[in-house]
Amino acid sequence: MSSLTSIEAGSNTRPNSGGIHVAIISDGNGRWATAKGLPRSAGHRAGAETAREIIEAAPSLGIHTLTLFALSSANWQRPTQEIAGILRLLHEYLLTETSHCMEEGVRLTVIGRRDRLPINLRQAIGDAEAATAGGKRLHLRLAIDYSAREAIYQAACRFYKVTELSCEAFGKILVDFRGGSTDVDLMIRTGGEQRLSDFLLWECAFAEFVFLEKRWPDFTASDLHMAMQEFTKRERTRGTLPAA
Ligand code: FPP
Repeated sequence: MSSLTSIEAGSNTRPNSGGIHVAIISDGNGRWATAKGLPRSAGHRAGAETAREIIEAAPSLGIHTLTLFALSSANWQRPTQEIAGILRLLHEYLLTETSHCMEEGVRLTVIGRRDRLPINLRQAIGDAEAATAGGKRLHLRLAIDYSAREAIYQAACRFYKVTELSCEAFGKILVDFRGGSTDVDLMIRTGGEQRLSDFLLWECAFAEFVFLEKRWPDFTASDLHMAMQEFTKRERTRGTLPAA
C-alpha cells in the first residue's frame, strides 16, 4: 500500500474541510455466499470482516468520514430470518468493535431510524456513540434502517417550524438530524449494480462515483486505495469551469 502522500486530493478535488468523506454501498454479500455454496448469513459475516479492514485502512488514505450502508430501510422486505441475522451481527459488531474504535480514535455514530430496531441494538448504539465520542482520526457512520427519503422527509417536518427559510438552513437541519454529516466526496458501490438505492441523496449532490463489480466480502484496502486514486484524477467543477 502506498503512503498517504500519493493519494492526497489534487487541487481540483475540493474535499470537505474536515477531510474526504467516502460513503460505501457494501453490496454483494448474498451473491458472494451463494457462489460459494454458503448461506447468505455467511456473506454478511464476511462482509462485517471487510468493514473492519476498510475502517482500519481509511484514516491513512486521507478519509476523515466514512459512511457504510449496513441496513437499508428497504431491507425490511427481506425474509425475517435474514434481517434478524443482520441485526444480530450488527449488535455483535458494536459490542466487539467499540473498544477497538476508542483505541484507534474512531468516532462511531449511527444514522437512520432507531424505533424499529431491537432494544439491545439501540442500547449498544447509544453506548458505542457515547464511548467513542472523543474520536478524532475518523468519523465512522453506520447507516442502519436508513432511507435518504425518510431523512429528507423528517428534516422537512422540522423545517416548517424554523424562521430562516433557505436551502442552507434546510441542509443544516438534515445534517443535524442524527449523526451530523458533510457532503459526500466519493461514493463507492460494490457488487456490480450502478444505483444509489435511497442512500445519502442530498449529501451526494456533488459526489464522485466509483462502481465496482467486486462483491463486498472481496473488497480490500487496496481496492479502497485504487478508488481514492481514481477520485483524485477527477476534476470536480461543481458547475464552474475547469481550472485553466
Ligand atoms: C448487502 O449485500 C449487505 C447487506 C444489506 C447487509 C449487511 C451489511 C454488512 C454486513 C456489511 C457492513 C457491516 C458492518 C458491520 C458495518 P446483499 O445481501 O444485498 O447482497 P446481494 O445483493 O448479493 O444479495
